[in-house]
Amino acid sequence: MADAFGPASMPVDALVADGLTRCFGERMAVDHVNFSVGRGEVFGFLGPNGAGKSTTARMLTGFLAPTAGRAVVAGFDVAKSPGAARRHIGVVPEEANVYADLTVRQNVLLMAELHGVTKAQRELRCTELLQTFDLTARATQKGRELSKGLRQRLMLCMALVGSPQILFLDEPPSGLDVASTRMIHEVISRMNREQGMTVFLTTHNMEEADQLCHRVAIIDRGRLAAIDTPLALRGRVDSRRSVVVKFSGPGVGPADVLPRPDMEIETLVDGWRVFSPEPGPLAQHIAARTAALGLRIESLNTVSPTLEEVFVSITGGAHGHA
Ligand SMILES: Nc1ncnc2c1ncn2[C@@H]1O[C@H](COP(=O)(O)OP(=O)(O)OP(=O)(O)O)[C@@H](O)[C@H]1O
Ligand SMILES: [Mg+2]
Repeated sequence: MADAFGPASMPVDALVADGLTRCFGERMAVDHVNFSVGRGEVFGFLGPNGAGKSTTARMLTGFLAPTAGRAVVAGFDVAKSPGAARRHIGVVPEEANVYADLTVRQNVLLMAELHGVTKAQRELRCTELLQTFDLTARATQKGRELSKGLRQRLMLCMALVGSPQILFLDEPPSGLDVASTRMIHEVISRMNREQGMTVFLTTHNMEEADQLCHRVAIIDRGRLAAIDTPLALRGRVDSRRSVVVKFSGPGVGPADVLPRPDMEIETLVDGWRVFSPEPGPLAQHIAARTAALGLRIESLNTVSPTLEEVFVSITGGAHGHA
């Protein structure tokens, strides 16, 4: 039976990476990584290209053997009980793997059969999922005819048709269009809320990771660099908090309204941005000084750092290491 946090039969940790390590020749692609994902959690796995995200996901899903360490899925050691572990998961791999000669519908039905879904249920689940991912009109189209975004949505249908307790979604590094990404994220967020499905998501979309994930891990050159809630991670770079001020009509120079001359400033088209760990009092100061000078402000906002800024400060930029 499922409760709000997932099936009662599953242990508290849906996933455990215990010293998980993978070498490719001399290269340590994943270097003694430790983390656990609670059941019912949406867990984001972020990192630059080549950081080791897909390699980690492939070890957790049993597609790749670790060089050292252990992957545990729904309480099952993936190396010792691969079949039992796999029964609990649905996987959307990084590379498209739909059958090119089968139709959209046939692909989903085949996957349902492989997952042991009964014949009556198969049709029902398939129709439902195609509707959810706006693929009903494409049901009779062949896999090979689909665009990348449509293929990704089909892979989601295929991963979800067995009603997995844990979904692995390894997003393609080159990304999808905004509408497809949003649709996919909305659906997995809903399934997490309504069915307690646990989600392991690798993504480069920081904004959506921020909104979607309960916790986020940042991996860099095979090592875990940070793991926390998006809120707490953003709090780590308080120095990147800022005030953005825009003027209607001719503006003033920062020197006229800022409390100190040495503040870090970024010039915008119609105003500027000043960095400060305490943007509230700074905004008040700017407003008071501007008013005293008889000038009008168009807008004045305090801005928190984005997850992207955290990512850049931790990894030193979004450059790949592949
Ligand atoms: N089969 C393989 N053989 C050799 N090296 C590999 C193999 N798979 C991955 N690697 C290497 O391991 C490292 C980690 O790769 P991985 O695919 O896990 O990165 P990633 O974080 O998923 O990157 P991306 O954001 O580009 O998807 C890279 O240096 C990559 O070149
Ligand atoms: Mg990858």
